[in-house]
Amino acid sequence: MTHDALSTRAFRWMLALLLLPCGLATAAAQDRTTPPKASEPPTVRVLITYYSRTGNTEQLARGVARGVGRVPHAVATVQRVEEVTKESLQSADAIALGCPTYFGNIPGKMKIVIDDWNWKWKVNFTDKVGGAFTTGAGQVGGKEFTVISLLMFMINNRMVVAGPLYQDAEGEDIWAEAGAAAMTGPLDPGISAAELDAAARLGERLAKLAAKMRSE
Ligand SMILES: Cc1cc2nc3c(=O)[nH]c(=O)nc-3n(C[C@H](O)[C@H](O)[C@H](O)COP(=O)(O)O)c2cc1C
Repeated sequence: MTHDALSTRAFRWMLALLLLPCGLATAAAQDRTTPPKASEPPTVRVLITYYSRTGNTEQLARGVARGVGRVPHAVATVQRVEEVTKESLQSADAIALGCPTYFGNIPGKMKIVIDDWNWKWKVNFTDKVGGAFTTGAGQVGGKEFTVISLLMFMINNRMVVAGPLYQDAEGEDIWAEAGAAAMTGPLDPGISAAELDAAARLGERLAKLAAKMRSE
């Protein structure tokens, strides 16, 4: 091989090595811009967060998560209210809030924590789907008032709220509740199957609504 032929070959190799990263970069850029397949619906994130000292409300929170699990592409995260971060709130499409009923309303500790989500953390709650659940020892005891207080927090924070949905024997929607609740006092201790079912219906409703809003 002549000296000229050798140097032409060497030049070609150097050129190929120089251009290789450009080719890789172009391929990577094309990868990034490839739109997601139309057949893949987005994941719907449901954050279930609760305050609980003796475990009753925590059990109801797990029931809400089971209902979320019935909805395809919905993912539930269950967190104590004290562990919630700005990131977990901000990334949620739907939020279920739960706490025990104390003196006919939400516990003071719950109020202090959730007030900070807006006041200190400046979370943007606009158009997130929200729902509420509570436990209380009494037959009445103020549980509905607690649910309404939690929903009022959400409405004031620009969320869209909903409760568990019920169907008749034909599968027609016939009514909805304001939230899910369980009686835990001596007259009816523990969480019954019907109360867990209400919690699951709440989770299912929130996940379905959030999925509808994501698909718009
Ligand atoms: C300070 C305090 C106040 C309470 N006030 C009420 C009340 O007004 N109405 C009611 O039904 N239960 C009341 N309870 C009972 C709790 O709501 C009930 O035991 C609840 O299930 C506890 O939830 P947890 O196990 O998640 O902490 C009260 C409990 C405490 C400790």
